[in-house]
Amino acid sequence: MTDERLIALAKQAASFAYAPYSGFTVGAALLAESGKVYLGCNIENAAFGPTNCAERTAFFKAVSEGERSFCAIAIVGGKRGVFDALCPPCGVCRQVMAEFCAPDFRVILGTDSGEPRVYPLAELLPLSFSKAQL
Ligand code: THU
Repeated sequence: MTDERLIALAKQAASFAYAPYSGFTVGAALLAESGKVYLGCNIENAAFGPTNCAERTAFFKAVSEGERSFCAIAIVGGKRGVFDALCPPCGVCRQVMAEFCAPDFRVILGTDSGEPRVYPLAELLPLSFSKAQL
């Protein structure tokens, strides 16, 4: 699975985003070590608080189907489906990644043009709280 293919799948996932309040559509494609890819989109809510990010949608789909080990996630996001800037994952999604992923888990940020940027999770969430503290 190439990074480019994973970004293309994230763009497909973004087309299913339910974002009537922000108009900001996000798509994620999560590659499990099993080789399966789980797609997720953001799902907003009139009460705002219940809104779920695309990344967590993808993680929760995967974990609820038995996956526990992951290689990489591709993320795209933008206003009304135009991905002209990087869409870094929010802090809550980074914490969910840290629950299931190793420090070298790859976070691939795509746009409509230009080279993707790839970050190891450890760089996006240093000194994270984890099961090691409990
Ligand atoms: N959003 C995501 O889906 N992922 C992120 O990491 C950041 C934000 C969504 C939530 C909301 O529907 C919209 O983007 C604007 O915040």
